[in-house]
Amino acid sequence: MGAVKLIEPHGGRLIDRTGAQKDSSDGLVAVNLSAWQQCDLEMIGCGAMSPLEGFMGEADYNSVCDNMTLADGTVWPLPITCAVDDSAADKISAGDRVRLLDDADRLLGYLNVSEKFQQDKSRAATKAFGTDDVAHPGVKVLMASPDTCLAGSIDVVTPKHDPMFPDHRLTPVRTRAEFERRGWKTIVAFQTRNPIHRAHEYLTKCAQEMTDGLLIHPLMGATKDGDISPEVRMKCYEVLIEKYYHADHTMLAIMPAAMRYAGPREAIMHAILRQNYGCTHIIIGRDHAGVGKYYGTYDAQKIFDSLPGKGLKITPIKFEHTAWSKAAGGMVSNKTFPEIEGDRIFLSGTKVREMLQKGERPPIEFTRPEVANILIDAMKGA
Ligand code: ADX
Repeated sequence: MGAVKLIEPHGGRLIDRTGAQKDSSDGLVAVNLSAWQQCDLEMIGCGAMSPLEGFMGEADYNSVCDNMTLADGTVWPLPITCAVDDSAADKISAGDRVRLLDDADRLLGYLNVSEKFQQDKSRAATKAFGTDDVAHPGVKVLMASPDTCLAGSIDVVTPKHDPMFPDHRLTPVRTRAEFERRGWKTIVAFQTRNPIHRAHEYLTKCAQEMTDGLLIHPLMGATKDGDISPEVRMKCYEVLIEKYYHADHTMLAIMPAAMRYAGPREAIMHAILRQNYGCTHIIIGRDHAGVGKYYGTYDAQKIFDSLPGKGLKITPIKFEHTAWSKAAGGMVSNKTFPEIEGDRIFLSGTKVREMLQKGERPPIEFTRPEVANILIDAMKGA
């Protein structure tokens, strides 16, 4: 079998900041990382956030906010920062090596501090999220973070203690090796933070028709209250893949990134991450990574058309809003079937939750019964 040439990582080189040893010196200042920062540490460490080698400094931060590029012109949509409380920040200076801990004070790694700077949260929120409304779940986390950011490269000792789904927690090196083993040249990634409903299934299968393989790649890092738990989602993915997908052309791995709900800019982020995992394509449907009414239905698609700087190699596969049409007897969008009043089966998230809570299965055209059963059981237990 000839060697498969996989897509280049973003910025040209896959970063690896893992494998560091525990320092013998005890005198280092320690900081506990927030939920987002812990996810970022794991993502940076394994190269999923290449070309980042650590948390951003002020030049990159400003350039990302203003231009959607790193200071060197490489496309990058969202600030990746390590904001820490003043009580810790006051003890830390550029040149220090800082111990990075999780919530239970367990060592994750080290930050080689190159600079300290003050973030302008409200400006960053407006630029990156398009709003500074604290009702937005991503903005809420950002606005609650401290002002002082530590920047610098990281050295990861243990990306996560007791990680969920260790068999599916594949680093970019491992997804790339698996794509090579399978001989896949074109790979489409499916980002999701939900169980797979029929519309999702349709998108993935349309995309699968155009590529060698599908990577179902649910985001399993920090999400907002009210989102369905990783454990329940995993059960849904497994049952669905087992029954309704072709094993030769489907792969399931999880992505331990934090969800920011930043809509268009996060769609770019999701694309960069998947390029680093070795995917050539990514599905971008309606209101990708959106929340509430903050973004237009297709904003996350349009943003790919006007990217500045040194761009992406991965290609978005864009989908219109799809739903089951009773008249057509299948999944359609406004591109494939005309709109007829009352024809589409559309249920809001709130409506679906209400039905599941009452133990009612949504229509089969909306959710497969195997998935509905898992969700109903989970709600009973909640
Ligand atoms: S997201 O935050 O990860 O984007 P979700 O898991 O709901 O949320 O969506 C996963 C992907 O499917 C996204 O690309 C989204 O745009 C797309 N999508 C979800 N529902 C539909 C739909 N009915 N029609 C078209 N695209 C959809």
